Amino acid sequence: MRIDIISAVPALLDSPFNDSILKRAQNKGIVEVNIHNLRDYSSNNQKSIDDYAFGGGAGMVLSIEPIYKCITSLKEKNNYSEIIFMTPDGEKLSQKISNQLSLSSNLIVLCGHYKGIDERVREHLITKEISIGDYVLSGGELAAAVLCDSIIRLIPGVLNDETSALSDSFQDNLLAPPVYTRPAKYKDWEVPKILTSGNLKEIENWRHEKSIEKTKTLRPDLLK
Ligand code: ADE
Repeated sequence: MRIDIISAVPALLDSPFNDSILKRAQNKGIVEVNIHNLRDYSSNNQKSIDDYAFGGGAGMVLSIEPIYKCITSLKEKNNYSEIIFMTPDGEKLSQKISNQLSLSSNLIVLCGHYKGIDERVREHLITKEISIGDYVLSGGELAAAVLCDSIIRLIPGVLNDETSALSDSFQDNLLAPPVYTRPAKYKDWEVPKILTSGNLKEIENWRHEKSIEKTKTLRPDLLK
């Protein structure tokens, strides 16, 4: 998969893609992440990418031209399954959306900034709008990193133990069961006996029960 992220502040995306699982996925050649600086597509000498809003009002608006130029130059070279705009008024990100997007060939992710972007970008260039939650971030970069992380880890071969993404919370509308590691007893706090019994069938049943119990208590809405 190839992911092209378009941003006015590309430095904000440096660290999420340069460590741990996301870095390894790129090193293994499973995913190629390209970050594009919107300023490189500005046609004026000041390299400006925003302007005042028509009709007045506070805040600058990202201009259509640099975004149009960047997206069209990418589309000339690659086919994209979706051109996604990160915005608080988009569809709320869920495991279901990440699962679907992990099957894409290539994706463009556009990060918003300042007071917004020229609406014509959304009308004519964007195919999907995603929010990571009902709160407003300073820009779409951190949201884009969250979206890409949730997608990339689902691509086969990215996680060492492929089953570990399948047993994530939300994958079957259940929260993941609790996990423990050595020592089996720390001060007075003991690990549930069943987990050290060696009985794999019983352990699997226990985990499933705990998942249901936890989901009923913490997220009953998931069971509806
Ligand atoms: N940009 C600013 N806030 C955002 C959010 N909550 N989700 C996605 N993109 C955003």
